[in-house]
Amino acid sequence: MHDHAHTKDIFYGRRLRGSAALRGMVRETRLSKDTLIYPVFVQSGENIKDEIATMPGQYRYSPDRLPEFFEEALAAGVDKVIFFGLPAAKDEVGSGAWADDGIVQQAVRIAAERYPEVLRVTDVCLCEYTSHGHCGVLEGGCVHNEKTLPLLAQTAVSQARAGAQLIAPSDMMDGRVAAIRRALDKEGFSGTPVMAYSAKYSSAFYGPFREAADSAPAFGDRKTYQMDWHNAREAVRESLADLSEGADIVMVKPALAYLDVIRRVREQVDAPLCAYAVSGEYAMIKAAAQAGMMDEEALVAETTTAIFRAGADMLITYHAPLAARLITEGRIG
Ligand code: PBG
Repeated sequence: MHDHAHTKDIFYGRRLRGSAALRGMVRETRLSKDTLIYPVFVQSGENIKDEIATMPGQYRYSPDRLPEFFEEALAAGVDKVIFFGLPAAKDEVGSGAWADDGIVQQAVRIAAERYPEVLRVTDVCLCEYTSHGHCGVLEGGCVHNEKTLPLLAQTAVSQARAGAQLIAPSDMMDGRVAAIRRALDKEGFSGTPVMAYSAKYSSAFYGPFREAADSAPAFGDRKTYQMDWHNAREAVRESLADLSEGADIVMVKPALAYLDVIRRVREQVDAPLCAYAVSGEYAMIKAAAQAGMMDEEALVAETTTAIFRAGADMLITYHAPLAARLITEGRIG
């Protein structure tokens, strides 16, 4: 086999790579299907399952077609879902976000009734519901922090009432976790945990999502509320702040270009840590695969493992069913 030099000076790294069994034994990173969360886009209407142009293989479902999504997830062994909504109508303040019969509220009720074994996570943000596409209420062309907080809290409560089991604010307003925590407690949902998008960067990798959710800002960008990607220490401050406000889980988003941030937060923050492999990460892999440039399964295996190796405890990913299958087949983890 190997003709290694018999010298003590050499590190024989290859000895433990000689077979799949050996490699499997010395793996430092273990993956589990339990830690995967699959996003779904729910659209107001009937009999809709439209493929999203910027995210091949991902669809917008009307509530009546949702079972197809759940069957796909469950068949792969994924039992955690995060909901995003496309409402029938938008307005200045995003009132569709907290409507009792809002699109996410409807979807969550269906899921609770038909797929009770699936964990229901809801994204709290106004950008999909505002006519201007920003994540909060505008005043003088700027997103007003304090005026936005009660609307986010109201949205979280209405989602919890519909049956959401984990509330995930993604808006990046200051103080939103405290506002949401207070409102949930007051309305009888003190047992419902909050997963804060704590270190959410102002990222070009959200491009495909904004097409999918019709949530691109009509003017300007999100740099006055989402984080500047030059900063990593700030992610720790944001995470600790969210924990002090009552967050149960913190998040770093996006994932692949922020592995250093995931590692840093893992080392400095003692709370469960979620990472979000966002739409642009999915789209890059899909595009490369469709162009015949790289292999989708191999890329998903490697990138998913990298995110967990960096220190994530759980992962939101559009590739959740594929990642789960790779785990089942023993190709990763
Ligand atoms: C809502 C929200 C966004 C994403 C998750 N929640 C879009 C944004 O902030 O522009 C992005 C998810 C993705 O790209 O997959 N604010």
